[in-house]
Amino acid sequence: MRMVDLIQKKRDGKLHTKEEIQFIIEGYTNGDIPDYQMSAWSMAIFFKDMNDDERAWFTEAIVHSGDTIDLSAIEGIKVDKHSTGGVGDTTTLILAPLVSSIGVPVAKMSGRGLGHTGGTIDKLEAMKGFSVDISNDEFIRLVNTNKVAVMGQTDNLTPADKKLYGLRDVTGTVNSIPMIASSIMSKKLAAGADAIVLDVKTGAGAFMKELDESRELAEAMVKIGNNLERNTTAIISDMNQPLGFMIGNALEVKEAIDTLNGRGPADLTELCYTLGSHMAVLAGKANSTEEARELLQEAVKTGKALEQFKLFIRSQGGDDTIVDSPENLPTATKTIAVPSLSSGYISAIMADEIGTSAMLLGAGRATKDSVIDLAVGIELHKKIGDAVEEGEALVTLHVNDADYETVVEKVQAAYSISKEEIPSPQLIYDVIS
Ligand code: URA
Repeated sequence: MRMVDLIQKKRDGKLHTKEEIQFIIEGYTNGDIPDYQMSAWSMAIFFKDMNDDERAWFTEAIVHSGDTIDLSAIEGIKVDKHSTGGVGDTTTLILAPLVSSIGVPVAKMSGRGLGHTGGTIDKLEAMKGFSVDISNDEFIRLVNTNKVAVMGQTDNLTPADKKLYGLRDVTGTVNSIPMIASSIMSKKLAAGADAIVLDVKTGAGAFMKELDESRELAEAMVKIGNNLERNTTAIISDMNQPLGFMIGNALEVKEAIDTLNGRGPADLTELCYTLGSHMAVLAGKANSTEEARELLQEAVKTGKALEQFKLFIRSQGGDDTIVDSPENLPTATKTIAVPSLSSGYISAIMADEIGTSAMLLGAGRATKDSVIDLAVGIELHKKIGDAVEEGEALVTLHVNDADYETVVEKVQAAYSISKEEIPSPQLIYDVIS
Protein backbone atom coordinates (compact mmCIF):
# COMPACT_ATOMS: atom_id res chain seq x y z
CA MET A 1 0.00 0.00 0.00
CA ARG A 2 1.23 3.52 -0.73
CA MET A 3 0.05 6.55 1.20
CA VAL A 4 -0.05 8.69 -1.95
CA ASP A 5 -2.65 6.33 -3.46
CA LEU A 6 -4.77 6.52 -0.30
CA ILE A 7 -4.62 10.34 -0.29
CA GLN A 8 -5.79 10.38 -3.92
CA LYS A 9 -8.54 7.87 -3.14
CA LYS A 10 -9.98 10.05 -0.40
CA ARG A 11 -9.41 13.22 -2.42
CA ASP A 12 -11.68 11.67 -5.08
CA GLY A 13 -14.35 10.91 -2.48
CA LYS A 14 -13.92 7.13 -2.38
CA LEU A 15 -14.25 4.93 0.70
CA HIS A 16 -11.32 3.39 2.58
CA THR A 17 -11.18 -0.23 3.71
CA LYS A 18 -10.46 -1.16 7.33
CA GLU A 19 -6.95 -2.31 6.32
CA GLU A 20 -6.22 1.02 4.62
CA ILE A 21 -7.21 2.96 7.73
CA GLN A 22 -5.08 0.70 9.93
CA PHE A 23 -2.15 1.21 7.51
CA ILE A 24 -2.51 5.00 7.75
CA ILE A 25 -2.73 5.16 11.56
CA GLU A 26 0.03 2.60 12.17
CA GLY A 27 2.30 4.25 9.60
CA TYR A 28 1.72 7.71 11.00
CA THR A 29 2.25 6.62 14.62
CA ASN A 30 5.54 4.83 13.92
CA GLY A 31 6.87 7.62 11.68
CA ASP A 32 6.71 5.80 8.31
CA ILE A 33 4.12 8.27 7.02
CA PRO A 34 5.42 11.85 7.16
CA ASP A 35 3.46 14.87 8.41
CA TYR A 36 3.08 16.32 4.90
CA GLN A 37 1.22 13.26 3.66
CA MET A 38 -0.90 13.04 6.80
CA SER A 39 -1.76 16.75 6.39
CA ALA A 40 -2.93 16.17 2.82
CA TRP A 41 -5.00 13.16 3.92
CA SER A 42 -6.53 15.11 6.84
CA MET A 43 -7.56 17.85 4.43
CA ALA A 44 -9.09 15.24 2.13
CA ILE A 45 -11.11 13.93 5.11
CA PHE A 46 -12.11 17.48 5.98
CA PHE A 47 -13.70 17.90 2.53
CA LYS A 48 -14.83 14.35 1.69
CA ASP A 49 -15.76 13.03 5.18
CA MET A 50 -15.88 9.38 6.27
CA ASN A 51 -18.87 7.06 6.37
CA ASP A 52 -19.95 5.30 9.58
CA ASP A 53 -17.75 2.25 9.00
CA GLU A 54 -14.69 4.36 8.28
CA ARG A 55 -15.30 6.42 11.43
CA ALA A 56 -15.54 3.29 13.59
CA TRP A 57 -12.38 1.74 12.03
CA PHE A 58 -10.52 5.03 12.38
CA THR A 59 -11.47 5.22 16.08
CA GLU A 60 -10.44 1.60 16.67
CA ALA A 61 -7.10 2.13 14.93
CA ILE A 62 -6.39 5.16 17.16
CA VAL A 63 -7.33 3.13 20.28
CA HIS A 64 -4.81 0.45 19.30
CA SER A 65 -2.01 2.92 18.53
CA GLY A 66 -1.02 2.85 22.22
CA ASP A 67 -1.84 1.43 25.64
CA THR A 68 -5.37 0.49 26.57
CA ILE A 69 -6.67 0.22 30.11
CA ASP A 70 -8.22 -3.06 31.09
CA LEU A 71 -10.99 -2.48 33.61
CA SER A 72 -12.37 -6.01 33.44
CA ALA A 73 -11.20 -6.67 37.02
CA ILE A 74 -13.77 -4.09 38.19
CA GLU A 75 -17.22 -5.52 38.79
CA GLY A 76 -20.16 -3.97 36.98
CA ILE A 77 -20.63 -1.83 33.90
CA LYS A 78 -18.07 0.97 33.85
CA VAL A 79 -19.70 4.12 32.48
CA ASP A 80 -17.46 7.01 31.57
CA LYS A 81 -18.63 10.58 31.12
CA HIS A 82 -17.03 13.10 28.82
CA SER A 83 -17.67 16.78 28.39
CA THR A 84 -16.59 18.57 25.23
CA GLY A 85 -15.23 21.41 27.35
CA GLY A 86 -16.73 24.42 28.99
CA VAL A 87 -16.25 27.13 31.57
CA GLY A 88 -17.05 26.47 35.22
CA ASP A 89 -17.91 22.86 34.41
CA THR A 90 -17.62 21.13 37.77
CA THR A 91 -19.73 18.13 36.77
CA THR A 92 -17.05 15.41 37.11
CA LEU A 93 -16.25 16.50 40.65
CA ILE A 94 -19.93 16.14 41.54
CA LEU A 95 -20.84 13.12 39.43
CA ALA A 96 -17.96 10.90 40.59
CA PRO A 97 -19.17 10.76 44.22
CA LEU A 98 -22.84 11.18 43.33
CA VAL A 99 -23.28 8.26 40.92
CA SER A 100 -20.82 6.00 42.76
CA SER A 101 -22.86 6.54 45.93
CA ILE A 102 -25.75 4.66 44.27
CA GLY A 103 -23.44 1.81 43.19
CA VAL A 104 -22.32 2.85 39.69
CA PRO A 105 -18.57 2.11 39.41
CA VAL A 106 -16.70 5.28 38.41
CA ALA A 107 -13.20 4.55 37.08
CA LYS A 108 -12.21 7.84 35.55
CA MET A 109 -9.12 9.08 33.79
CA SER A 110 -8.91 12.85 33.75
CA GLY A 111 -6.66 15.58 32.40
CA ARG A 112 -5.42 19.04 33.28
CA GLY A 113 -6.88 22.27 31.94
CA LEU A 114 -5.50 24.40 29.14
CA GLY A 115 -6.63 27.86 27.98
CA HIS A 116 -10.09 29.04 29.01
CA THR A 117 -11.38 25.63 30.15
CA GLY A 118 -10.48 24.02 33.47
CA GLY A 119 -9.29 20.46 34.07
CA THR A 120 -10.67 18.01 36.63
CA ILE A 121 -7.21 17.08 37.96
CA ASP A 122 -6.41 20.71 38.79
CA LYS A 123 -9.68 21.01 40.67
CA LEU A 124 -9.03 17.78 42.59
CA GLU A 125 -5.55 18.98 43.50
CA ALA A 126 -7.06 22.07 45.13
CA MET A 127 -7.77 19.60 47.97
CA LYS A 128 -4.51 19.35 49.90
CA GLY A 129 -2.79 15.97 49.47
CA PHE A 130 -5.12 14.63 46.76
CA SER A 131 -3.15 12.61 44.22
CA VAL A 132 -4.18 11.21 40.85
CA ASP A 133 -0.72 9.69 40.50
CA ILE A 134 -1.79 6.14 41.37
CA SER A 135 -0.86 2.81 39.77
CA ASN A 136 -3.29 0.84 37.63
CA ASP A 137 -3.57 -1.79 40.37
CA GLU A 138 -4.35 0.80 43.03
CA PHE A 139 -6.90 2.43 40.71
CA ILE A 140 -8.72 -0.88 40.23
CA ARG A 141 -8.51 -1.73 43.94
CA LEU A 142 -10.03 1.64 44.86
CA VAL A 143 -12.92 1.29 42.41
CA ASN A 144 -13.66 -2.23 43.62
CA THR A 145 -13.57 -1.10 47.26
CA ASN A 146 -15.13 2.37 47.11
CA LYS A 147 -16.78 2.39 43.65
CA VAL A 148 -14.81 5.51 42.71
CA ALA A 149 -11.29 6.59 41.72
CA VAL A 150 -9.74 9.14 39.38
CA MET A 151 -6.30 8.76 37.85
CA GLY A 152 -4.20 10.97 35.58
CA GLN A 153 -3.94 10.15 31.89
CA THR A 154 -1.16 7.68 31.13
CA ASP A 155 1.40 9.00 28.65
CA ASN A 156 0.95 6.36 25.99
CA LEU A 157 -2.84 6.51 25.66
CA THR A 158 -3.87 7.07 22.00
CA PRO A 159 -0.49 8.41 20.74
CA ALA A 160 -1.89 8.58 17.19
CA ASP A 161 -4.49 11.08 18.41
CA LYS A 162 -1.88 13.24 20.18
CA LYS A 163 0.28 13.39 17.05
CA LEU A 164 -2.64 13.92 14.69
CA TYR A 165 -4.30 16.57 16.87
CA GLY A 166 -1.05 18.56 16.87
CA LEU A 167 -0.95 18.32 13.08
CA ARG A 168 -4.63 19.24 12.65
CA ASP A 169 -4.11 22.26 14.86
CA VAL A 170 -1.61 23.77 12.40
CA THR A 171 -3.20 22.61 9.14
CA GLY A 172 -6.74 23.97 9.50
CA THR A 173 -8.27 20.51 9.97
CA VAL A 174 -9.42 20.56 13.60
CA ASN A 175 -13.02 21.36 12.77
CA SER A 176 -13.89 18.11 11.04
CA ILE A 177 -16.75 16.10 12.59
CA PRO A 178 -15.28 12.61 11.82
CA MET A 179 -11.89 13.69 13.18
CA ILE A 180 -13.26 15.27 16.38
CA ALA A 181 -15.70 12.43 17.04
CA SER A 182 -13.02 9.75 16.58
CA SER A 183 -10.50 11.70 18.64
CA ILE A 184 -12.83 11.98 21.63
CA MET A 185 -14.25 8.46 21.40
CA SER A 186 -10.83 6.83 20.99
CA LYS A 187 -9.72 8.25 24.35
CA LYS A 188 -12.84 6.99 26.12
CA LEU A 189 -12.49 3.51 24.61
CA ALA A 190 -8.75 3.29 25.35
CA ALA A 191 -9.53 4.23 28.96
CA GLY A 192 -11.67 1.10 29.26
CA ALA A 193 -15.25 2.41 29.21
CA ASP A 194 -18.05 -0.14 28.73
CA ALA A 195 -20.60 2.62 28.17
CA ILE A 196 -20.29 6.36 27.67
CA VAL A 197 -22.34 9.47 28.49
CA LEU A 198 -21.29 12.50 26.47
CA ASP A 199 -22.02 16.08 27.46
CA VAL A 200 -21.78 17.96 24.18
CA LYS A 201 -21.69 21.68 24.85
CA THR A 202 -23.20 24.20 22.51
CA GLY A 203 -23.00 27.99 22.40
CA ALA A 204 -20.58 30.90 22.61
CA GLY A 205 -18.25 29.29 25.19
CA ALA A 206 -18.22 25.87 23.50
CA PHE A 207 -16.08 24.26 20.87
CA MET A 208 -19.22 23.97 18.72
CA LYS A 209 -21.02 27.32 18.69
CA GLU A 210 -24.14 26.28 16.75
CA LEU A 211 -26.78 23.78 17.87
CA ASP A 212 -26.83 22.04 14.46
CA GLU A 213 -23.11 21.30 14.49
CA SER A 214 -23.24 20.21 18.14
CA ARG A 215 -26.02 17.81 17.24
CA GLU A 216 -24.03 16.50 14.28
CA LEU A 217 -21.01 15.89 16.55
CA ALA A 218 -23.18 14.20 19.18
CA GLU A 219 -24.79 11.90 16.60
CA ALA A 220 -21.38 11.03 15.14
CA MET A 221 -20.00 10.04 18.56
CA VAL A 222 -23.08 8.04 19.54
CA LYS A 223 -22.87 6.10 16.25
CA ILE A 224 -19.16 5.35 16.74
CA GLY A 225 -19.82 4.15 20.30
CA ASN A 226 -22.74 1.98 19.31
CA ASN A 227 -20.89 0.56 16.26
CA LEU A 228 -18.06 -0.43 18.59
CA GLU A 229 -20.51 -2.06 21.00
CA ARG A 230 -20.41 0.57 23.72
CA ASN A 231 -23.83 1.93 24.69
CA THR A 232 -23.47 5.65 24.23
CA THR A 233 -25.80 8.54 25.05
CA ALA A 234 -25.14 12.21 24.30
CA ILE A 235 -26.75 15.16 26.07
CA ILE A 236 -26.52 18.53 24.29
CA SER A 237 -26.24 21.24 26.93
CA ASP A 238 -25.90 25.00 26.95
CA MET A 239 -22.54 26.78 27.13
CA ASN A 240 -23.72 30.28 26.24
CA GLN A 241 -22.69 31.23 29.77
CA PRO A 242 -20.51 29.57 32.39
CA LEU A 243 -22.10 26.69 34.28
CA GLY A 244 -22.87 27.41 37.94
CA PHE A 245 -21.41 30.49 39.63
CA MET A 246 -17.76 29.60 40.25
CA ILE A 247 -14.77 29.50 37.90
CA GLY A 248 -11.45 28.53 39.46
CA ASN A 249 -10.14 25.40 41.10
CA ALA A 250 -10.80 25.73 44.87
CA LEU A 251 -13.92 27.80 44.10
CA GLU A 252 -15.32 24.97 41.98
CA VAL A 253 -14.56 22.41 44.71
CA LYS A 254 -16.60 24.57 47.06
CA GLU A 255 -19.42 24.68 44.54
CA ALA A 256 -19.24 20.89 44.17
CA ILE A 257 -19.64 20.53 47.96
CA ASP A 258 -22.64 22.89 47.89
CA THR A 259 -24.21 20.87 45.07
CA LEU A 260 -23.66 17.54 46.84
CA ASN A 261 -25.29 19.18 49.85
CA GLY A 262 -28.36 20.04 47.76
CA ARG A 263 -27.54 23.76 47.78
CA GLY A 264 -25.85 24.09 44.38
CA PRO A 265 -26.73 26.42 41.51
CA ALA A 266 -29.87 25.35 39.62
CA ASP A 267 -28.18 24.83 36.21
CA LEU A 268 -25.22 22.84 37.54
CA THR A 269 -27.52 20.71 39.73
CA GLU A 270 -29.89 19.97 36.85
CA LEU A 271 -27.07 19.03 34.47
CA CYS A 272 -25.57 16.69 37.07
CA TYR A 273 -28.90 14.95 37.65
CA THR A 274 -29.43 14.63 33.89
CA LEU A 275 -25.97 13.22 33.16
CA GLY A 276 -25.97 11.12 36.33
CA SER A 277 -29.33 9.54 35.60
CA HIS A 278 -28.21 8.52 32.09
CA MET A 279 -25.02 7.06 33.62
CA ALA A 280 -27.06 5.05 36.12
CA VAL A 281 -29.34 3.69 33.38
CA LEU A 282 -26.40 2.66 31.17
CA ALA A 283 -24.79 0.99 34.21
CA GLY A 284 -27.99 -1.00 34.79
CA LYS A 285 -28.64 0.58 38.21
CA ALA A 286 -32.06 1.93 37.17
CA ASN A 287 -34.65 1.08 34.54
CA SER A 288 -35.43 4.64 33.62
CA THR A 289 -33.88 8.07 33.98
CA GLU A 290 -36.79 9.04 36.26
CA GLU A 291 -36.02 6.17 38.63
CA ALA A 292 -32.30 7.00 38.47
CA ARG A 293 -32.95 10.66 39.29
CA GLU A 294 -34.90 9.66 42.38
CA LEU A 295 -32.00 7.50 43.57
CA LEU A 296 -29.55 10.37 43.01
CA GLN A 297 -31.77 12.92 44.74
CA GLU A 298 -32.19 10.56 47.68
CA ALA A 299 -28.38 10.17 47.93
CA VAL A 300 -28.05 13.96 48.18
CA LYS A 301 -30.91 14.29 50.67
CA THR A 302 -29.61 11.61 53.02
CA GLY A 303 -25.99 12.86 52.91
CA LYS A 304 -24.81 9.62 51.27
CA ALA A 305 -23.36 11.50 48.27
CA LEU A 306 -21.41 13.85 50.52
CA GLU A 307 -20.06 10.95 52.63
CA GLN A 308 -18.97 9.29 49.38
CA PHE A 309 -17.13 12.50 48.42
CA LYS A 310 -15.25 12.37 51.73
CA LEU A 311 -14.33 8.71 51.17
CA PHE A 312 -13.15 9.47 47.62
CA ILE A 313 -10.95 12.38 48.82
CA ARG A 314 -9.51 10.43 51.78
CA SER A 315 -8.74 7.34 49.71
CA GLN A 316 -6.57 9.35 47.33
CA GLY A 317 -4.65 11.10 50.10
CA GLY A 318 -6.71 14.30 50.22
CA ASP A 319 -7.84 16.39 53.17
CA ASP A 320 -11.52 15.51 53.59
CA THR A 321 -12.06 18.14 56.30
CA ILE A 322 -12.69 20.60 53.46
CA VAL A 323 -16.14 19.08 53.00
CA ASP A 324 -17.38 20.25 56.41
CA SER A 325 -14.96 23.18 56.58
CA PRO A 326 -14.54 24.61 53.04
CA GLU A 327 -12.50 27.45 54.58
CA ASN A 328 -9.65 24.88 54.67
CA LEU A 329 -9.44 25.16 50.87
CA PRO A 330 -6.89 27.57 49.37
CA THR A 331 -8.31 31.10 49.65
CA ALA A 332 -7.26 34.21 47.70
CA THR A 333 -5.97 37.26 49.59
CA LYS A 334 -8.24 39.85 47.91
CA THR A 335 -11.78 39.98 46.58
CA ILE A 336 -12.67 42.65 44.02
CA ALA A 337 -16.28 43.39 43.06
CA VAL A 338 -16.70 44.20 39.36
CA PRO A 339 -19.57 46.70 38.94
CA SER A 340 -22.06 46.76 36.09
CA LEU A 341 -21.67 49.81 33.85
CA SER A 342 -25.42 50.07 33.20
CA SER A 343 -28.84 48.93 34.41
CA GLY A 344 -31.06 46.38 32.65
CA TYR A 345 -31.16 42.63 32.11
CA ILE A 346 -28.18 40.37 31.35
CA SER A 347 -28.65 39.29 27.72
CA ALA A 348 -25.34 37.49 27.05
CA ILE A 349 -22.15 36.46 28.85
CA MET A 350 -19.20 35.49 26.68
CA ALA A 351 -18.25 32.32 28.56
CA ASP A 352 -14.89 31.95 26.82
CA GLU A 353 -13.94 35.52 27.80
CA ILE A 354 -14.87 34.81 31.43
CA GLY A 355 -12.78 31.62 31.24
CA THR A 356 -9.85 33.57 29.81
CA SER A 357 -10.27 36.21 32.54
CA ALA A 358 -10.04 33.49 35.21
CA MET A 359 -6.94 32.18 33.44
CA LEU A 360 -5.37 35.66 33.54
CA LEU A 361 -5.93 35.74 37.31
CA GLY A 362 -3.91 32.50 37.46
CA ALA A 363 -6.72 29.92 37.67
CA GLY A 364 -5.82 28.36 34.29
CA ARG A 365 -2.85 27.72 32.03
CA ALA A 366 -1.92 29.95 29.11
CA THR A 367 0.59 27.28 28.03
CA LYS A 368 1.08 23.65 29.03
CA ASP A 369 3.90 24.63 31.42
CA SER A 370 2.13 27.51 33.23
CA VAL A 371 1.86 27.14 37.00
CA ILE A 372 -1.67 27.70 38.26
CA ASP A 373 -2.95 29.35 41.43
CA LEU A 374 -5.56 27.05 42.98
CA ALA A 375 -7.16 29.80 45.11
CA VAL A 376 -8.03 32.42 42.50
CA GLY A 377 -10.94 32.74 40.10
CA ILE A 378 -14.27 34.38 39.42
CA GLU A 379 -17.57 34.16 41.26
CA LEU A 380 -20.54 35.17 39.12
CA HIS A 381 -23.42 37.04 40.70
CA LYS A 382 -25.39 37.61 37.52
CA LYS A 383 -26.42 35.15 34.83
CA ILE A 384 -28.46 35.56 31.64
CA GLY A 385 -31.96 36.87 32.40
CA ASP A 386 -31.03 38.46 35.75
CA ALA A 387 -31.84 42.12 36.39
CA VAL A 388 -28.92 44.37 37.30
CA GLU A 389 -28.52 47.98 38.51
CA GLU A 390 -25.67 50.21 37.42
CA GLY A 391 -22.86 49.82 39.99
CA GLU A 392 -24.14 46.45 41.27
CA ALA A 393 -21.55 43.63 41.24
CA LEU A 394 -21.61 41.41 38.15
CA VAL A 395 -18.91 39.17 39.56
CA THR A 396 -16.36 39.03 42.36
CA LEU A 397 -12.74 38.40 41.40
CA HIS A 398 -10.74 36.25 43.85
CA VAL A 399 -7.21 37.56 43.40
CA ASN A 400 -3.72 36.94 44.78
CA ASP A 401 -0.95 38.79 43.03
CA ALA A 402 -2.16 39.00 39.40
CA ASP A 403 -2.77 42.38 37.81
CA TYR A 404 -6.56 42.50 37.85
CA GLU A 405 -7.25 45.91 36.22
CA THR A 406 -7.44 44.50 32.68
CA VAL A 407 -9.53 41.59 33.96
CA VAL A 408 -12.12 44.00 35.37
CA GLU A 409 -12.53 45.57 31.92
CA LYS A 410 -12.54 42.20 30.19
CA VAL A 411 -15.33 40.90 32.45
CA GLN A 412 -17.39 44.07 31.95
CA ALA A 413 -16.97 43.69 28.17
CA ALA A 414 -18.01 40.01 28.37
CA TYR A 415 -21.43 40.96 29.78
CA SER A 416 -24.14 42.36 27.47
CA ILE A 417 -26.98 44.24 29.12
CA SER A 418 -30.32 44.90 27.48
CA LYS A 419 -33.18 47.20 28.47
CA GLU A 420 -35.68 44.45 27.60
CA GLU A 421 -36.43 41.49 29.88
CA ILE A 422 -34.54 38.36 28.73
CA PRO A 423 -35.53 34.75 29.46
CA SER A 424 -32.94 32.37 30.95
CA PRO A 425 -31.48 30.12 28.25
CA GLN A 426 -32.57 26.51 27.91
CA LEU A 427 -30.08 24.17 29.63
CA ILE A 428 -30.67 20.81 27.90
CA TYR A 429 -31.33 20.93 24.16
CA ASP A 430 -31.43 17.28 23.25
CA VAL A 431 -30.65 13.71 24.27
CA ILE A 432 -29.31 11.41 21.56
CA SER A 433 -28.85 7.67 21.96
N1 URA B 1 -11.25 17.48 21.63
C1 URA B 1 -10.60 16.34 21.33
O1 URA B 1 -10.29 15.55 22.22
N2 URA B 1 -10.33 16.09 20.03
C2 URA B 1 -10.64 16.92 19.03
O2 URA B 1 -10.37 16.63 17.88
C3 URA B 1 -11.31 18.12 19.36
C4 URA B 1 -11.61 18.37 20.68
